[in-house]
Amino acid sequence: MSRLGIFVDRKTLSNSEQLNALIRCRDVSEELGHDVDFIFPVDICKIPKMDALFIRARTDPMNITYVAARMAKFHGIPVIDDSESIQICSDKINMYSHLMKKSVSLPKTIFLSRNDLSVEHVSHLFDEMGSPLVVKEPSTSFSLRVEKVHSVAEFFKVARRFIKMSDWIVVQQFIESKYDWRIGVLDGKLLYACKYTIPSVTFKIQASVNGHLIYCGVESVPPDCVPPPVIQLGIDAANAIGSGLYGVDIKNNNGDAYVIEVNDNPSLESGEDTCYPLVYQTIVSHLLRT
Ligand SMILES: Nc1ncnc2c1ncn2[C@@H]1O[C@H](COP(=O)(O)OP(=O)(O)O)[C@@H](O)[C@H]1O
Ligand SMILES: [Mg+2]
Repeated sequence: MSRLGIFVDRKTLSNSEQLNALIRCRDVSEELGHDVDFIFPVDICKIPKMDALFIRARTDPMNITYVAARMAKFHGIPVIDDSESIQICSDKINMYSHLMKKSVSLPKTIFLSRNDLSVEHVSHLFDEMGSPLVVKEPSTSFSLRVEKVHSVAEFFKVARRFIKMSDWIVVQQFIESKYDWRIGVLDGKLLYACKYTIPSVTFKIQASVNGHLIYCGVESVPPDCVPPPVIQLGIDAANAIGSGLYGVDIKNNNGDAYVIEVNDNPSLESGEDTCYPLVYQTIVSHLLRT
């Protein structure tokens, strides 16, 4: 009998949707004949006793999830997410560089350092990439440090804030769309697909508006209702990062598809997998495939 460790933290469990998703994952693993241990940060030393590790706490190279991923690797234990994927996906410069190297379709994207922040250079970017532009601080997540700017003045207001946190900022062509496709990929294969509908008051899938957090709608979509080029682009983008579990965000505009982001540790608790009842079974079987 194999033993699956699910790495969680208090924050993961404080949300009832996430708790239900984790219990579903445990039940599926047990039905497949595996033992399951929830591993909390204080019990990290239990990792070497596991046959596989599934990290379901927020991943970041600066927190304990990264230590857990490295520990699993050191002991030769299959792990999702692996430490390389965590490192790449947590930094948009690193993540987009991997996609560019494999010629994956992206909105026009450039990286700027402090020395590039001149009025001439930025005006030129508006001429080349159109208006508005999207500006991102590379370590952003949950749409926190992603802004749309319509003028050079607005650009500098945002860029000055972001460049205090990072040596580089990302500037991107704005792609209009009503929703983001989220393509879930495991080991280079489609795992699930859903639409994240962008709330009308913002251009991001979540935002803080007048102090209130606003979230996107989630609609699971069966594979035959997803345009095949979108699925293929999701797979290509995931393969440019690694062979683990990824959630690839894609915008489809006038028939052209662009990758907005590859996420490690994609969320599965909001109904993303409603049309895909085998998601956890596939993940667990993949991790314990020996
Ligand atoms: N180039 C773009 N054009 C239009 N919308 C974008 C663009 N880039 C990001 N967005 C919107 O902003 C959201 C957050 O951007 P993303 O790059 O995923 O950052 P984060 O890592 O903070 O989630 C996306 O889900 C998308 O809806
Ligand atoms: Mg995102």
